[in-house]
Amino acid sequence: MTGKMQQGVLRAAIDRRPVASDIAIIETPRPDCPEDGVLVKLAAISLDPYVGTRLRGKHMGEPAPVPMRDAIPAHGVGQIAQSRADGLKEGDWVHTTEAGWRDYAALPASAVRTIDMTGLDPADHLGPLGMPGLTAWAAMAKRAEVQPGDSVLIDAAAGAVGGTAGQIARALGASRITGIAGGPEKCAAVTGTYRFDACIDYRTEGWRDALAAALPDGLNVHLENVSMDLLTLALTHMRPYGRAVLCGLADQYHADAPPPGIPAGLIIGKRASLMGLVVYDFYDRWNEFTEFAAPLVRSGDLKIAKDSVTGWADAPALFERMLAGKHIGKAMVRL
Ligand SMILES: NC(=O)c1ccc[n+]([C@@H]2O[C@H](COP(=O)([O-])OP(=O)(O)OC[C@H]3O[C@@H](n4cnc5c(N)ncnc54)[C@H](OP(=O)(O)O)[C@@H]3O)[C@@H](O)[C@H]2O)c1
Repeated sequence: MTGKMQQGVLRAAIDRRPVASDIAIIETPRPDCPEDGVLVKLAAISLDPYVGTRLRGKHMGEPAPVPMRDAIPAHGVGQIAQSRADGLKEGDWVHTTEAGWRDYAALPASAVRTIDMTGLDPADHLGPLGMPGLTAWAAMAKRAEVQPGDSVLIDAAAGAVGGTAGQIARALGASRITGIAGGPEKCAAVTGTYRFDACIDYRTEGWRDALAAALPDGLNVHLENVSMDLLTLALTHMRPYGRAVLCGLADQYHADAPPPGIPAGLIIGKRASLMGLVVYDFYDRWNEFTEFAAPLVRSGDLKIAKDSVTGWADAPALFERMLAGKHIGKAMVRL
């Protein structure tokens, strides 16, 4: 296949939180289909917080993309335009963690996972059934092992990870789900669309008291997405033998100083279990997760707000907004 395509790249190396003007949309040759691989025409790509640190070479030891050459990393969903791989044919819908900001991706067969689009939108496979959904399931079902009757607290609750985690906790039988989020619009999504029992807006005065009032019997599962400060607060409300999963530190990814120390005394006093989570360890369980979550998405019992733009022109601005936490739900670019 010949022709041109568009691709998003860094203009130059950076060492701070990326902004829209760091990104250039350039024209490059459309790649050929590799031997034993596929050429995927992307329909949508995901914008995720980890890419902000990845662009600075500070994510899990992975290198930053080379400016003006490598596509900005992104997960994506698309259709196979050409195949030279057994078992994969033109028109098949696939998900890949190696999509990148580009119209077409030439990939080895091992880099794509075929997906069932029946009754679903490409965006569902980037949000509740994508990497954020897998993370939420790994946290709630596999690490915290949410049980019927659990009281669960989740911060960044309007996001794709937090919002999905609350709905999965509900599906697993949790009796009370409380969210923390920034601003009335986000809290409206958390209690309205995601059906949490309560959402505390930490930008309002007296929010710590409101949180205490929302947790009259405390909590026994916590999902931390934002900061050690919020983790410490969650631990103070924890019942003995509670479980906390440390999933993200969104407030600290681009800070100059490392986060303050872990409140060891609280963990001991509560006999709490604190678990770290890296979603990569669950990539080989995506089918098991999809079997659990796809029926919930199809029935409407698991939904995530979509914050999307169409086409590359508006993508850098949405990326900047997402990294600053000003989006709601799953940020993505439709192509
Ligand atoms: N461990 C893993 O393998 C794994 C995998 C996927 C994601 N994660 C992490 O899980 C968390 C949630 O991911 P997500 O994709 O669903 O993201 P998200 O919740 O859509 O976005 C992050 C949220 O963090 C909050 N936040 C607080 N302080 C912030 C700051 N200074 N800058 C930016 N955001 C700030 C914002 O929500 P409020 O305005 O409501 O505070 C923001 O919307 C992130 O920390 C992400 O890195 C971890």
